[in-house]
Amino acid sequence: MSNTASTLSSADRAAPHLISAAAPPSLRLMLALEDFEAPARRYIPRPIYGYVSGGVERNVTLNWNRSVFDDLALVPRMLINVSQRSQKTQLFGRSYDSPFGISPMGGTSLAAFQGDLALATAAATRNIPMILSGASLTPLETVRQAAPNHTWFQAYLPGETQAITELVERVAIAGYDTLVLTVDIPVGSNRENNVRNGYNAPLRPNLRLALQCLARPSWLIGTALRTYFTQGMPHFENMGKRTPLVSSTAVRERANRDHLNWEHVALMRRLWKGKLVIKGILDKRDAVIAREHGCDGIIVSNHGGRQLDSASSPLRVLPGIVAAAGDMTVMMDSGIRRGTDALKALALGAKFVFVGRPMLYAAAVAGETGVRHAIRLLHYEIDRDMAMLGANSISEISREMLMDARGLDTYGLR
Ligand SMILES: Cc1cc2nc3c(=O)[nH]c(=O)nc-3n(C[C@H](O)[C@H](O)[C@H](O)COP(=O)(O)O)c2cc1C
Repeated sequence: MSNTASTLSSADRAAPHLISAAAPPSLRLMLALEDFEAPARRYIPRPIYGYVSGGVERNVTLNWNRSVFDDLALVPRMLINVSQRSQKTQLFGRSYDSPFGISPMGGTSLAAFQGDLALATAAATRNIPMILSGASLTPLETVRQAAPNHTWFQAYLPGETQAITELVERVAIAGYDTLVLTVDIPVGSNRENNVRNGYNAPLRPNLRLALQCLARPSWLIGTALRTYFTQGMPHFENMGKRTPLVSSTAVRERANRDHLNWEHVALMRRLWKGKLVIKGILDKRDAVIAREHGCDGIIVSNHGGRQLDSASSPLRVLPGIVAAAGDMTVMMDSGIRRGTDALKALALGAKFVFVGRPMLYAAAVAGETGVRHAIRLLHYEIDRDMAMLGANSISEISREMLMDARGLDTYGLR
């Protein structure tokens, strides 16, 4: 990755104290992705932090997304020469430096100054993909220009031919080669925490919100006012009509999402010449239908536990989906925080994984530099873990390395 790291021996390059020492002073104690959350909570106003961190209803799915990884134990092999190990991964005709990318997240520029650009440029510098959200506050053309080879676009679409046709054309003209359609949001989910904290999209200006923002002066100056004075009022730029971020009356376009169905996927497949990916699949029958519709890939995801509470963790359904998907690329997100999490998902057959919240916390805390550091942390966790597992390449990560942590046989592994 950096020159310093690449001149180190393969045994030393993942040493945690060296990675820490290479970071800017303010990030030296950010030793794992989880470490970005506490400073982000102190930086971001309460309703916005609640929007980012929160799940839905009782947070059953949100909690499973983490605990499910602990159900699996790793079984390493010894005395294998791993000095030539590499985690480079081929995906859709490109070679990435790591087997993970950044999940699409709407409204990132609310939490971090120019959040979409910080995430996209950091991803490009570290040679991993970043998916720009359809609910983002930066025009999709601007982000693609800033990181032309590493940015994918994620669409939220109504079940309407005209809206779909217009968006697909716009995304193609902007030069994107990978289009992701998120399908787990036929209706808005029951995010009670947003109501309790006073979060809305658009934000409704009122005294409570003003006081909540005043309680976070660094954010107020470093993100909100800086954005306002450099760019004016942000708008939702990539989803139907432009809607301002703050307004007492405006309503974001969400109509007719519950009409969306496979006929619209067929339409998109006819219109879109690039790679088409469906995000939010949890049932293997849907994976089969996606493949039959000519989709290039799916992201097995429960939206980070933000949609249907009690929806299964992607990891639990992954083996069945991989078996049903044939040659279609299967990727996964929701709950990945550690190198071992990523490797467990890859061992169960995912080709690639994505990480959401921690990357946004890193952007809030330290902008592009923070995201670059977060990516490096996860990259070197994977490097270290591969060495200790006895793997020289991602293709060597297999189910043989896993067993049920409690000695049960939930995954049919041993
Ligand atoms: C603040 C926030 C905004 C999100 N916005 C979107 C979005 O616009 N489109 C989408 O497909 N998924 C969205 N997601 C879901 C993520 O793409 C991803 O599935 C999830 O965050 C992964 O789980 P993780 O945060 O535990 O890594 C959002 C998640 C968060 C935390």
